[in-house]
Amino acid sequence: MVPLKRRRVVSSAAVNTGTDHSGDKGPTRFPRLVLFLLEKLQVFPESVTHVISENNSGPEVRTWLDSQGGGPGRSPLHLLDISWYTESMRAGRPVHILDRHKLQVRFTGQDKEMAVFSVPSYACQRRTTLDNQNTTLTDALSLLAENAELSDEDGRGVAFRRAAAVLKALPKPVTDMAQLRGLPCLGEHSLRVIRDILENGMSSEVESTKQSERYKALKVLTGIFGVGAKTADRWIREGIHTLHQLRDSGHTLNRAQQAGVFLHYDDLNRPVSKADADIIGETVGKAVDAVLPGAQVTLIGGFRRGKLTGHDVDFLITHPEEGREEGLMPKVVSWLESRGFLLYQKTTRNSYLECKDGPARPPSNIDRFERCLSIFKLANEETGGTTQLETLTENGTEPAGHRPWRAVRVDLVVSPVSQFAFALLGWTGSKLFERELRRWAGYEKAMSLSSHALYDNKQSRYLRATSEEEIFAHLGLEYIPPSERNA
Ligand code: UTP
Ligand code: MN
Repeated sequence: MVPLKRRRVVSSAAVNTGTDHSGDKGPTRFPRLVLFLLEKLQVFPESVTHVISENNSGPEVRTWLDSQGGGPGRSPLHLLDISWYTESMRAGRPVHILDRHKLQVRFTGQDKEMAVFSVPSYACQRRTTLDNQNTTLTDALSLLAENAELSDEDGRGVAFRRAAAVLKALPKPVTDMAQLRGLPCLGEHSLRVIRDILENGMSSEVESTKQSERYKALKVLTGIFGVGAKTADRWIREGIHTLHQLRDSGHTLNRAQQAGVFLHYDDLNRPVSKADADIIGETVGKAVDAVLPGAQVTLIGGFRRGKLTGHDVDFLITHPEEGREEGLMPKVVSWLESRGFLLYQKTTRNSYLECKDGPARPPSNIDRFERCLSIFKLANEETGGTTQLETLTENGTEPAGHRPWRAVRVDLVVSPVSQFAFALLGWTGSKLFERELRRWAGYEKAMSLSSHALYDNKQSRYLRATSEEEIFAHLGLEYIPPSERNA
């Protein structure tokens, strides 16, 4: 047994056992080794050769070491159980390291090895591509996230989104709960869902949510353009679950909702392809070029991240000369409208004013760019060589199968060039990636990030940037390209 007193001495810091700290007969000396008894809040010196832990699992220690910069490049370490230390003290020399002394960082299954994963805590520190090795699990968690968001429970929604995003970042399918030890953002509830699926092939909670009348009604009603979680919830409480019930209810719908429910419901709930996005991009490009030569149009949102389909198409417009973009949107809109490209549009003016003393706190994630939320009339490809520029005249009452066009949601945003990099980063998504960037900025860097600017609260000044790369650098983050922001 190691006397308690001596253990206390060596457990408080990195201890070079060549030095006698205790003043009594002293711990046995192992001059060439630098031992480290793990307590998580300590600084971790470079010189350490042996890490000893009493109460932490191998994966936990590994994750912690990685967070201390103990990753690749550092000299190899022995991760050992306290038993190696006590035996060495008893023997008066470092005993030979046996398997039973080593902290398990890999679990051995029946006969094959299971990977134990480690990922950084914030989604903006990770590279998340579109394909993912755990789609059954991430689909399940995403459905619960969606249900929470549709029920106006954003906190729960974010928790499920974060858990799903961690699984999306794993290089291999999860087969055993033990592989998840030490991973961030996996709360009790998410772990329960994952366990159910690993053990039973499905989660009863996910299945019953999918089948529930409430979830089905929420999906139908929020599928209407201009209807959010709050409105849908109010209608459901009045017993309205379907479009027919809504129509018969006598509710007055606003202009967007009327377009959404009576004219274009099916179209707007059909995914938009990348090919459709590109055709619309050409039209928007022509409009912008016609009203302000030199202005630039960039495809943003999910399509910029490499998605093959989307629920809408998003574009960011700017001009290389600051100020020239002012008043651009109404001109673009009337160009498009006069040629019959718009079925609906609502333009909001730019209301952003840079405040000298920094942005409001807590920082709002609502941006204030000049913006146009629209429904585009997109000519069908197969209707005999008609081009987008040909004037379209149908009024939208024919069934989709018989008309030569479809309705597509399009979001246009105009940014001054000085804010362009921030707008581009903020509008490329994913939504969780954006949220994590802002959380990182606030908690880790005392900065506030929006789609307009980055403010350093310690230096009390704005940090300018002309590219996304510069913004990542200001934030002390490795640059992540759009295709790897699919958290
Ligand atoms: P979308 O809602 O269009 O999502 O927002 P998406 O990633 O393109 O996916 P789809 O369209 O469902 O396929 C795109 C990005 O724009 C930001 C969001 O944060 C998201 O990252 N955005 C959207 C805003 O900043 N403000 C808004 O009002 C809307
Ligand atoms: Mn989009």
